[in-house]
Amino acid sequence: TEAWRPDDDRPRGSLGPVRVKAPAKINLHLGVGPVRPDGFHELNTVYHAISIHDELTARRGDTLTLTMEGEGAGQLALDDSNLVIRAARALAGHAGVPAHARLHLRKRIPLAAGLAGGSADAAAALVACDALWGTGLSRDELAAIAATLGSDVPFLVHGGTALGTGRGEVVSPVLARPTTWHWVVAVADGGLSTPQVYAELDRLRGTATAPTPRGSADALLAALRQRDPRVLAEALGNDLQPAAVSLRPELAEVLKAGRAEGALAGIVSGSGPTCVFLAADGEDAERLAAGLTAAGVCRAAHPAHGPVPGARTS
Ligand code: C5P
Repeated sequence: TEAWRPDDDRPRGSLGPVRVKAPAKINLHLGVGPVRPDGFHELNTVYHAISIHDELTARRGDTLTLTMEGEGAGQLALDDSNLVIRAARALAGHAGVPAHARLHLRKRIPLAAGLAGGSADAAAALVACDALWGTGLSRDELAAIAATLGSDVPFLVHGGTALGTGRGEVVSPVLARPTTWHWVVAVADGGLSTPQVYAELDRLRGTATAPTPRGSADALLAALRQRDPRVLAEALGNDLQPAAVSLRPELAEVLKAGRAEGALAGIVSGSGPTCVFLAADGEDAERLAAGLTAAGVCRAAHPAHGPVPGARTS
C-alpha cells in the first residue's frame, strides 16, 4: 500500500485482510553488561531471525479485537495487556488514526521461550496495521514505535542478522555476503521469566563463582564473515546461559544431548529455556532434530534456518 496524503482521494489503507509473518529470534552472542538506573541491562548482542514464524491477519473492524490459535492459546490474555493490542494502539496514536481492526494471531513460536515470540507479534501488528490503515510509515519509523513496546521489537521489524546495543533496542543491520545457517531449535516444556533470568544472572555475578563472560559481539561478527559453521560454532555465546541453567538445571542435559547427537555447538536462546544447536547443513539439522526428539530431552526439536526477513506482508 502506498502512503496516503491528505490531498489523495484514493481510499486510505487496504480493504484487507492483511497477512503478516514475523520470525522468532535467537542471539548468536548475548553480552550482558551491568544493570542501568532504569533497571534494564546494557546489552551487546548479535540478533539472528530464524524460519519459525507467527502469522498475524488484520481485517477492517469497528473496534480493536484480537483472537488467537496455536502455541499458548488460552494461556495468553487477549486484552489491552497483550503486546499485539499495545502495538496497534501505539501505531494508531502515533499516526492519529482510530485503532480499529480485527486481528487474528496464529502462533507457532512458543511462549516465554527465549525466542521473542511476543516481540515478533508486536512487530507483526505494527506492519499489519500500517498496511491496513495506510499510514505508510518507514521501517525506521516503525522501529522507533517498536522500541517503546520492548527491547527486542525493533529487531523483529528489521530481521536478518543485526547488532543490538542499548537495552537491545538500538539495531544496526549486519551487512555480510548472504550465507544460510542451519539450526535446530529444542523447545522445552514450560517457559522461563525473562526478568527472573536477568535477576539470577545479577545474583550469580555477586557470588564467588560468578560466571565469566564468553566471547564478544565483534568476534562473533568476524566468525560470521568466514561463512564456515565450524568457525561460527566456536564464537557462539550467551551470558544469560548460566542463569537459565541455574534456574532450570535440566537444560545442561539438553545441551549435552545436542552435542552427543553431533551438533557443532549448542546454546540457550536468549533467556531460555529453548536451546539452539548449530548444524553443518540442512540434512544435518534434520538428523539432529530427529536425534534430539528420540532422546526425549525436549518437548519438540525443529530444524530452522536463518537469517530470514523481519515482519512483512505475505
Ligand atoms: O524489554 P522487554 O520488555 O522485552 O524486557 C523484559 C524484561 O527483561 C525487563 O523488564 C527486564 O527485567 C529484562 N531486561 C533487562 N535488560 C535488557 C532487556 C530486558 O534486564 N536489556
